[in-house]
Amino acid sequence: VSRAHDTYVVAAGGSLHGRFTVPGDKSISHRALMLGAIAEGRSVVRGFLESEDTLATRRALEAMGVAFESRDATLGVHGVGLHGLRPPAGPLDLGNSGTSLRLLSGLLAGQGFAVTLTGDASLMRRPMGRVVAPLAAMNARIACSADGTPPVSIDASPGLRGIRYALPVASAQVKSAVLLAGLYADGETCVSEPAPSRDHTERMLARFGVPIEREGGRACVRGGATLTATEVDVPADLSSAAFFMVGAAIGAGSRITIDNVGVNPTRTGVVEILRLMGADIVLHHPRTLGGEPVADIEARCGDLRGVEIPPELVPLAIDEFPALLVAAACARGRTRLTGAGELRVKESDRIAAMAEGLHGLGIETEVAPDGITVIGGALRGGEVDSRGDHRVAMAFAMAALRAEGEIRIARCRNVATSFPGFAALARRAGLRIR
Ligand code: S3P
Repeated sequence: VSRAHDTYVVAAGGSLHGRFTVPGDKSISHRALMLGAIAEGRSVVRGFLESEDTLATRRALEAMGVAFESRDATLGVHGVGLHGLRPPAGPLDLGNSGTSLRLLSGLLAGQGFAVTLTGDASLMRRPMGRVVAPLAAMNARIACSADGTPPVSIDASPGLRGIRYALPVASAQVKSAVLLAGLYADGETCVSEPAPSRDHTERMLARFGVPIEREGGRACVRGGATLTATEVDVPADLSSAAFFMVGAAIGAGSRITIDNVGVNPTRTGVVEILRLMGADIVLHHPRTLGGEPVADIEARCGDLRGVEIPPELVPLAIDEFPALLVAAACARGRTRLTGAGELRVKESDRIAAMAEGLHGLGIETEVAPDGITVIGGALRGGEVDSRGDHRVAMAFAMAALRAEGEIRIARCRNVATSFPGFAALARRAGLRIR
């Protein structure tokens, strides 16, 4: 990919308009692939997200003998049953996808074969001790490198034991890895979390017929359950919709509706935070689709003010802070984010990436180990390095709606990990992006 093809150039100004939808939910798509793979029978996944990250999961499962067929946005998964995966010929490369690597660690911890999980330069820097520790406590033969990063290597399982595990951080990936390993463990596996994180794994296990007990912040499964193939409807990804919601909130005169978006309450922190800031966001026709809450989201330009972001909303908006910090830059006054140290270990260090990018556009910030304060002001044009982080790239693209000059964003190729077609869709909605 040449440098020019990896750069967004976004002209200043404009507004967003129209009614459209965004691609399928990434978290739910990964889970549909994995649970479909170990189910009995053929599952059908409608609205599946075809992106680089979900493709990484699909390829890994194909390497272990699972067959898929896709037509339009519908995916067929030929389940091989709980014990039907076969040893892959070589290491599984999960690209940029932390969800693939962490959830597959759990799924593969209980198999009768050895496997190694790797990824791209960004993924090779991300912490894996958080999944290795509980899986090892379940008797898995699993290790990562001495500094806690990939590759993750797993030996043939000597037999897993159920565990009661209290997550040290609210992480849906760790919770999911332990629950997936629990399907292969003797007895009961229970995970409890310090604060709610996305619960798509729990909901989807139930859809595949696995008895899952949920109470308070705890979820329990028993080993040896049979998963039965099912139909999964994947809603549009709220995390992708969030860029357009922020774009509409900051772009003068904007008004958009995004159809069929997942609004699972463990994900809707972005809606609440934007409303606290004064944005005009309405959820129309709330309904349930395949066990997940869905709505059509209308967003209009509003007069934004800076806020203290309530810490309890942080895990519920964890992927939306690049976009929310752009909204903060356009708000009157200061927006303070705390309790968000997890942002430092995402696809990039998102606190550093956003501080640097905003600084380059003339916005003042104060950085802390676990957060950032953004002082709203006038956005100039300029150059931003997305650091190869899809969400940083898309957030700064939307910033151009309020900038005084053109914004050039480098290293945008990874937008395809979660949002293929972002630039084309944004252009149709009114962003002057090329
Ligand atoms: C995800 C969980 C979150 C989120 C990621 C997707 C998932 O990560 O940031 O984009 O699908 O389970 P953590 O579990 O590390 O918080």
